[in-house]
Amino acid sequence: MTSRFKGFYKLPAGERIRKLLENVSVSEAGALFLESGGGLDLSLADKISENVISVLGLPLSVALNFVIDSREVLVPMAVEEPSIVAGASKAALIVRAAGGFVTRASDPVMTAQVQVYDVANHSAAKVALESAENEIVLLANAAIPSMVSRGGGARSIEIRDLKEGMVVTHIYVDCRDAMGANVADSVAEAVAPRIAQIAGGKVGLRILSNLPLNRMVKASAKIPVSAFNSPEVAKGVAMASRFAELDVYRAVTHNKGIMNGIDAVAVACGQDFRSIEAAAHGFAGMGEGYRPLSSWRIEDSGEGAHLVGELELPLAAGIVGGSTQATPGARLCLELVGAKTSRELASVIASAGLAANLASLLALSTEGIQRGHMRLHSRKKSTPG
Ligand code: MEV
Repeated sequence: MTSRFKGFYKLPAGERIRKLLENVSVSEAGALFLESGGGLDLSLADKISENVISVLGLPLSVALNFVIDSREVLVPMAVEEPSIVAGASKAALIVRAAGGFVTRASDPVMTAQVQVYDVANHSAAKVALESAENEIVLLANAAIPSMVSRGGGARSIEIRDLKEGMVVTHIYVDCRDAMGANVADSVAEAVAPRIAQIAGGKVGLRILSNLPLNRMVKASAKIPVSAFNSPEVAKGVAMASRFAELDVYRAVTHNKGIMNGIDAVAVACGQDFRSIEAAAHGFAGMGEGYRPLSSWRIEDSGEGAHLVGELELPLAAGIVGGSTQATPGARLCLELVGAKTSRELASVIASAGLAANLASLLALSTEGIQRGHMRLHSRKKSTPG
């Protein structure tokens, strides 16, 4: 299997599908989906949501050239903005020549929150809850037996005193290959009455947190400066990165460029992209101010100068359950990615984010974004403006 197809963009779509299917083995249903033009039946759409009147399409593409942790990966992207797929593929080609993306993902641990209010004695509540950790973990696991049988389950708790009579308990739950929203919500609901009883207060909200700080992913790339036409190109990327660290107006746009890649893969693979967006921006806003999620630096550690990029964020991705299996398109895209675990999918999504980011910074610090954009926009026959 390779993710490198020279001249793929020049082929008619039917030829692209043929080439793709020759190179990667997908299920019969997946091949049929592609060969029949894709999309979503109205009758299936009607089962997924409410008040359905039609279905809305998006182009489904594959970003090429990705090597992630030494694995060739075809990266599906569903997005309407023309330069994203081409840019990510181009950046992935540069990173590929330098050995590919290297990633690290933590265990897939979600955070369930239980709010208790009208607590008379905060510190006594905190102590009592902390000493009931085992009981709470057991109670949580009793609510999610199938997750426990798959090797997941509640791991630990943390008590946070929010003052004003409010004590919040976090239950950290390993959700294995699921995104985990349902699992975390089930846990929160199951343990809430006992937590309120121990804390001596009233049950409030019982819901996951969309800031899963125990479910982090990091993608990095290390490119020799000599891979660029001139050292000034690498310096331009590093300077663009520093700009985002010094200026919130730039940081938001920098992160938008990262989310161009992340959301495109997330949408294609049936992920809850709103939750991924919320986590990314929530994490970027932690600490002293809103920060860029990635950094690019020139480093010289004795083997010549390299442009080193790193992206780190909390990311809840799933390959089973939720919306991941709801549509034939998402099922096919997950097949194309070939991730065997939710952590592997998170690594692919983060690598796509770093690739999209590099593509933007390269374009911005050299020819400017408009030239490339306009070239690609000219392909859109019926789009005004
Ligand atoms: C456009 O969709 C994204 C960019 O604005 C990102 C960036 O400025 O880094 C090009």
